[in-house]
Amino acid sequence: MAFLADALSRVKPSATIAVTQKARELKAKGRDVIGLGAGEPDFDTPDNIKNAAIEAIRRGETKYPPVSGIAPLRDAIAKKFSRENNLDYRPEQTIVGTGGKQILFNAFMATLNPRDEVVIPTPYWVSYPEMVALCGGTPTFAATTSANGFKLTAEALEQAITPKTKWLVLNSPSNPSGAAYTEAELRALADVLLKHPQVWVLTDDMYEHLTYGDFVFKTIAEVEPNLYARTLTMNGVSKAYAMTGWRIGYAAGPVELIKAMDMIQGQQTSGACTIAQWASVEALNGPQDFIARNKAIFQGRRDLVVSMLNQARGIQCPSPEGAFYVYPSCAGLIGKKGPSGKVIENDEDFCAELLEAEGVAVVFGTAFGLGPNFRISYATSEALLEEACTRIQRFTASLD
Ligand SMILES: Cc1ncc(COP(=O)(O)O)c(C=O)c1O
Repeated sequence: MAFLADALSRVKPSATIAVTQKARELKAKGRDVIGLGAGEPDFDTPDNIKNAAIEAIRRGETKYPPVSGIAPLRDAIAKKFSRENNLDYRPEQTIVGTGGKQILFNAFMATLNPRDEVVIPTPYWVSYPEMVALCGGTPTFAATTSANGFKLTAEALEQAITPKTKWLVLNSPSNPSGAAYTEAELRALADVLLKHPQVWVLTDDMYEHLTYGDFVFKTIAEVEPNLYARTLTMNGVSKAYAMTGWRIGYAAGPVELIKAMDMIQGQQTSGACTIAQWASVEALNGPQDFIARNKAIFQGRRDLVVSMLNQARGIQCPSPEGAFYVYPSCAGLIGKKGPSGKVIENDEDFCAELLEAEGVAVVFGTAFGLGPNFRISYATSEALLEEACTRIQRFTASLD
């Protein structure tokens, strides 16, 4: 449509939202559908956090907040970075946004000029390339492999960097693969970055608190202090505190960048919801035992799903370090005939046939830039996960 902006031709709609929508439509028609597409914890927000919001409303904390966030939250964020990541950020180096999404968008908006490149490892969270493109930049991709645990290697990073590279996006633990970088793996990437002073790092640590076993989370500015001055460390309360609907994300970095992001946000949405900010103060400063309880539950689910998927014919499922996703390969099933009679030519076909035949909704890997794989979100009950994996086993066994 001629009326719409040219920028729209540079973006595509979210495949994860499309799958969720398709599953919803089938459910509405009475089909028994198990949706494993959603990227949010199935737990409720803890009561202490809800109560902090209710008290904030009662106190009359219902006015416009400062654009970058209320002082107690910026303070809590600075303390969080110091306590959990050994990172020394002053409150004026922090910014609060309406979800991690807004933080990322504004960081790109504040920094990208036409033709600037942003290196994004594949598989990636669907929004990164679209945000970069909307802000006028060029997403460039650095492939990972299952053999490397879906993690960017120093060699692949070196190859991906050009004189036009402005940012490297790191996301650990990753959506969609669950891969998380060890300190040694970050060290190897940092050594490459030190050779390229024009490249900044945007590290999306959203899933920091969801790592399993004895994995120790590290973030890149902590591992290499010489990158601190060109790193934006992003995080949020959505996943760790089961607060996806409260829409609070945050970041810390060099003051000039934070000021630029503040300026953009001031002309856009202004400060994030005051009440949700007060709830987030409690999330960051209050008791943290909820996180350990959830981690244990997620770890049990991960182990269940990985084990059951590896028993499904033609599926290979690595056991990732974190988040609540697995990213199995369906390469062993390409070329087989699905129940509809159609030959499965790629992961998109595999997911479509699976949904049609067994009512299990998962997202095809090509949407995340690396296939033939698919993403399962295990943020749902063990009973449902067991049923879904049983259906996947039955489906793969039935393929011709
Ligand atoms: C890797 C990653 N970053 C950022 C976000 C956005 O988080 P928020 O809901 O706080 O906007 C998500 C949400 O799915 C995500 O998976």
